[in-house]
Amino acid sequence: MRYFDHNATTPIAPEVLEVLSRVQAEVFGNPSSIHTPGQEARRELEAARAAVARMLGCATKEVVFTSGATEADNLAVLGVPEGHVITTAVEHPAVLEPAKRRMAAVVRVDGQGRVDPDEIRKALRQDTVLISVMHANNETGVLQPVEEIAAVAREAGVLLHSDGVQAAGRIPVDVQALGVDLYSISGHKFHAPKGVGALYVRDGVKIAARQVGGRHERERRAGTENVPAIAAMGAAAALPRAETAPLRGRLEELALERIPDVVIHGKGVPRVPNTTNMAFLGIEAEALVIALDLAGFAVSTGAACSSGATRPSHVLEAMGVPPAVAKASIRISLGRGNTLEDVEALVCALEKAVARLRKLSPAYA
Ligand SMILES: Cc1ncc(COP(=O)(O)O)c(C=O)c1O
Repeated sequence: MRYFDHNATTPIAPEVLEVLSRVQAEVFGNPSSIHTPGQEARRELEAARAAVARMLGCATKEVVFTSGATEADNLAVLGVPEGHVITTAVEHPAVLEPAKRRMAAVVRVDGQGRVDPDEIRKALRQDTVLISVMHANNETGVLQPVEEIAAVAREAGVLLHSDGVQAAGRIPVDVQALGVDLYSISGHKFHAPKGVGALYVRDGVKIAARQVGGRHERERRAGTENVPAIAAMGAAAALPRAETAPLRGRLEELALERIPDVVIHGKGVPRVPNTTNMAFLGIEAEALVIALDLAGFAVSTGAACSSGATRPSHVLEAMGVPPAVAKASIRISLGRGNTLEDVEALVCALEKAVARLRKLSPAYA
């Protein structure tokens, strides 16, 4: 099977698996214990914290380990003081759902999926406490103008959170340069195991723990830390980034050249280099995903959580993509291990599957 769904999850890298196995087998202490086994575990935890801090360009004390990005996003959105929250229509549900529990303004995006910082400015109220705008979109790869939004937030004295799950490990991330106060990452999107992530909390920003019952993580997240997974995420944070830009370029070029009636969402704006979201007009995305799976290629209809649902993606809907086009769209997300040969083979399989499905489609004349 050739894997093209790295935005859903990534395989554990061999060097990361080595760390995971070693720590799981040998470092069993509780990092809160003062004896030697405890201190060994504490060392693993702090080495991983330093590696994640290097990945994000922040200080070690600004990294809070969590069970993943869903928890990190919830902690960011619900952990800030009570008040009005501004977010966008293309966020992951891990931001949209907690935002619904607050008074939230949901700002629209343009046809390319970008948020206009002026729209954020217009949505500000006296009682706004937080702006939450993702760094890179999980379905399209489109990058938001986070630095410009940070200027709006700073001017208004409002905190800025960014869900960086699809940016970390794909492009260089520097939370200082971005100007964010809070930033979420997820280990399994960059070759660490599932169930581990982190929230960057800028020094001085007060965040109320959502999970209480211990003084772990400087009282921002109670519970004995998942030391092996955290150590593995530290190792993954130090991996070199995969060079996917030429592969994505070739994939889009070949698809447009060989297959008629293809639309690439967000192609005109900055995107992370591993993601493409393409509509093959007249087909049903799920039928295409299944046909490709049978041919040995794993791709996705979009967000893994919404696969299987018949409702078109809320991201494409927010971009004004007509429902028939949204339902004909698949996401291809590249990563470590993909080669030019894989990409060429994928385009051949796409060409065949799309032609076959279109013959059966009353929607494609
Ligand atoms: C943009 C984005 N945010 C949050 C998450 C949730 O991450 P986790 O699986 O670590 O809870 C995902 C995963 O699909 C994502 O793509």
